[in-house]
Amino acid sequence: MTGEAPFLHFDRLSKSFRRNPRDPEIQVIDDVSLIVEENDFVIFVGPSGCGKTTLMRIAAGLEHATGGRVVLEGEVVSGPDRRKGVVFQSYSSFPWLTVIENAEFGLKFRDDVPRREKRDIARHYLDLVGLGGFESFYVNHISGGMRQRLAIARTLCADPDVLFMDEPFGALDAQNREFLQVQLLEIREKERKTIVFVTHDAEEAIFLGERIFVFSARPATIIEEITVADHLEGERTLELKDTEAFFHLRNHLLELTRAQARRTEEIVSGGGEWRR
Ligand SMILES: Nc1ncnc2c1ncn2[C@@H]1O[C@H](COP(=O)(O)OP(=O)(O)OP(=O)(O)O)[C@@H](O)[C@H]1O
Ligand SMILES: [Mg+2]
Repeated sequence: MTGEAPFLHFDRLSKSFRRNPRDPEIQVIDDVSLIVEENDFVIFVGPSGCGKTTLMRIAAGLEHATGGRVVLEGEVVSGPDRRKGVVFQSYSSFPWLTVIENAEFGLKFRDDVPRREKRDIARHYLDLVGLGGFESFYVNHISGGMRQRLAIARTLCADPDVLFMDEPFGALDAQNREFLQVQLLEIREKERKTIVFVTHDAEEAIFLGERIFVFSARPATIIEEITVADHLEGERTLELKDTEAFFHLRNHLLELTRAQARRTEEIVSGGGEWRR
């Protein structure tokens, strides 16, 4: 690993899909380059279907790019491993296991941790996400918000270098969502994690992110990069959401994303490749 290399580098990434062998290729990502620094909190926003999940899946090693590459700590990403943690929108825990067993699953591939310490580490992360006391509950017996917290705890148990989070709070009600946003900021502070986070929600993007990449309608290209600290001062507390500066930035972000969403509608209704 070279000291000069960026922590995580999306290097001229492109991706096309062919749904059937005889269909034309559909380009989903078009020459996207960006750098994520260590301990960065980076947000991807963009219209539905523009390619955000695909971008993240490529970076996590779950999908291959058709052009370019992703380099993590000097190494080209070629498949999934423990250094790349992924949290998805849908609750992805095992219903036949208890809360603590689910968390421990994240430690399964950690040979740096002696077996007898695994339970303590699982407990540590369950406490961190506010699930202390629920260790022996089955997943079916906890709420959606708690399941999402469990998914985060399990991913943290694997001690990844970078955490990819794809609309992890998308299915939650506003109250749970806000609660988890605050918790995630605390976890990031305590654990010094690097996070790449996809969201549809402008407020969530601004509240959580240090840098926001706004993507165009498919194929995804970066249309703007926003450094949140250039617009907002002060600590990330919920009160920040009521300030004028927050409101302005939110409106700016909404304008950008709405314009791109309109373009998506044109692509779909205008006889684009989907209709053929
Ligand atoms: N495995 C695949 N095969 C064919 N097409 C795919 C595949 N995966 C994704 N796509 C297409 O690529 C495009 C981008 O999908 P992707 O899931 O990355 O979008 P997204 O930005 O995450 O959307 P959303 O905001 O709705 O989650 C979509 O049009 C989708 O249909
Ligand atoms: Mg998606």
